[in-house]
Amino acid sequence: MRYGGGRRRRMLLQPFLVLCATVTGLGLLMLALRPLDPPPIKIVYAKDFQLVDSNSSDFDVGDGTLMEKPPPATSQPCATVEEMGNDFVNGLAVKETLRVRRIIEQHFVLNGAARVRDLPSDQFCSHGFVLGKTAEAGFGNEMYKLLSAAALSIMLNRRKLVMRTDDFEKPSQTNVLCSNWKEWEQPIIWFQGTNDAVASQFFLKNVHPQMRVAAYNLFGDPQVLGSQPNVFGELMRVLISPSKDVEAAVNWVIGGAENPDISLHMRMQTNRSIRALQAVISCIRKAIKSQHLMSRPKIVVVSDTPSLFKSLVPNISEFAEVMRFDYEKFKGKMLESLPKLDFRAKDWGPAPRWVAFVDFFLASRARYAVVSGAQRRVGTTYAQLIAALAAAHNLGDNNNNNKTSGRRFSFFSSFQSNLLTDGLKNQIGWGHVWNRYAGPLSCPNQSNQCAFTPLLPPAWWDGLWQSPIPRDTKRLAFYGVQLSGFGNVDNNFLQNYCNSRKTVVRTVTYHL
Ligand SMILES: *[C@@H]1O[C@H](CO)[C@@H](O)[C@H](O)[C@H]1NC(C)=O
Ligand SMILES: *[C@@H]1O[C@H](CO)[C@@H](O)[C@H](O)[C@H]1NC(C)=O
Ligand SMILES: *[C@@H]1O[C@H](CO)[C@@H](O)[C@H](O)[C@H]1NC(C)=O
Ligand SMILES: *[C@@H]1O[C@H](CO)[C@@H](O)[C@H](O)[C@H]1NC(C)=O
Ligand SMILES: *[C@@H]1O[C@H](CO)[C@@H](O)[C@H](O)[C@H]1NC(C)=O
Repeated sequence: MRYGGGRRRRMLLQPFLVLCATVTGLGLLMLALRPLDPPPIKIVYAKDFQLVDSNSSDFDVGDGTLMEKPPPATSQPCATVEEMGNDFVNGLAVKETLRVRRIIEQHFVLNGAARVRDLPSDQFCSHGFVLGKTAEAGFGNEMYKLLSAAALSIMLNRRKLVMRTDDFEKPSQTNVLCSNWKEWEQPIIWFQGTNDAVASQFFLKNVHPQMRVAAYNLFGDPQVLGSQPNVFGELMRVLISPSKDVEAAVNWVIGGAENPDISLHMRMQTNRSIRALQAVISCIRKAIKSQHLMSRPKIVVVSDTPSLFKSLVPNISEFAEVMRFDYEKFKGKMLESLPKLDFRAKDWGPAPRWVAFVDFFLASRARYAVVSGAQRRVGTTYAQLIAALAAAHNLGDNNNNNKTSGRRFSFFSSFQSNLLTDGLKNQIGWGHVWNRYAGPLSCPNQSNQCAFTPLLPPAWWDGLWQSPIPRDTKRLAFYGVQLSGFGNVDNNFLQNYCNSRKTVVRTVTYHL
């Protein structure tokens, strides 16, 4: 195992972290694990129990060869963001999400911390684990690390102490596309660098059918946009809940009234672009209209730039009731116990970090819609996760696969026209929900857009209007993936790449 200097230093600290994180599966600052209902009387061990018959699937994953998608109709060489969003008009894919909800619930009843931590030591040690670990990046990125671990745990139906690490951010070393992880023998797997919704969906193109089947069962078919289950929302629904203090702060804002109808997240990075505000106000109006909300709906506003409230709240108040968490007015225990740090204030704003947790759980109470606006990056991981959790909260178990029952829930992205001069080309980060649409099929010079947005950010370019930017084509090449101009994957090329490369196995052994 070779690590750079900085990483080596961090590794030394980790045995303790690893154990703690492993026992709880997923431990997270200020988040309490929600205990699931007691397991069914007859306890079945994960090893003997296949929740997902991993050799068969509802999906025909074939040999991994996709049908080449047809070129877009010649009359229209490109699409606007709203046109791209038409695949997601129906909000949540109810039937698919309920199917995945059952898989997730059963998985965590059997393999969740509530049961596993009480196993006798020999059984505990023969269990396999996937490790989720957070450090100090943003809320959304860290949450995605935990959720990717949980997703992997489900796909693999897991679970001396040897851990196999796989760093997704090192394309020449990661085994995400080339290895059959179901055959890995190390009891702990740590899939590193999974900052967004993309990493765990890479398994959709793994060269081993068994891995593809597992990934399709969880994430759906990437070619059929709009049918993807709300995987991360459902994982959060089972795995996280606010600590008492955070919940108290959320309830303080809501004040015993009904939950908000719509949440607005504005990622402004201290910028107060008037055009961003104007665009998002009309986007909120569209959300109200599309969800048929009656007069004066309740809207929660959260932002990294509190100074924005002054210019935004009066205007929204003309047609809606506005709520927000004003941490300076909140006299809770946390204010006294946690020091205020100016840590990465430019990126996350001046509020203390715990405010991001309150804002997150407050905004995820939205009943009908989440709207994401920004100065530059629309649909960040934070906004995605708010929308995903809110959608999961709103999907009742008793929807009985009835698409018309239950509330409709939608996620909207608001783009002011100046962000779209070059189309979506500037949504370059993989953590941004529209990145997979940022290529040449995105029209330049668009007017303001308020687009329906996928709850599960896509990781590939299989949809009609999806196309890669050159930066991503280059990046994928390092993973052995050759993308066509429209983003199709050359599977033969990938298979040859996998055959020819040396498998990298990195393990860490802990001496306890
Ligand atoms: C699934 O396939 C693998 C190898 O292809 C085989 O070893 C295993 O027994 C199969 N499992 C089931 C449940 O059929
Ligand atoms: C704010 O954002 C707008 C639009 O993205 C940009 O033109 C402007 O320069 C930014 N202002 C500051 C102070 O960063
Ligand atoms: C808010 O309303 C005021 C007064 O009508 C107007 O001058 C301002 O431009 C509006 N702001 C936005 C963001 O629309
Ligand atoms: C689905 O739900 C709607 C509204 O609750 C109801 O009118 C309809 O009859 C239901 N359909 C089925 C097939 O249960
Ligand atoms: C977009 O608008 C700019 C400025 O108005 C113009 O120069 C450019 O040609 C337009 N691009 C397209 C593809 O229409």
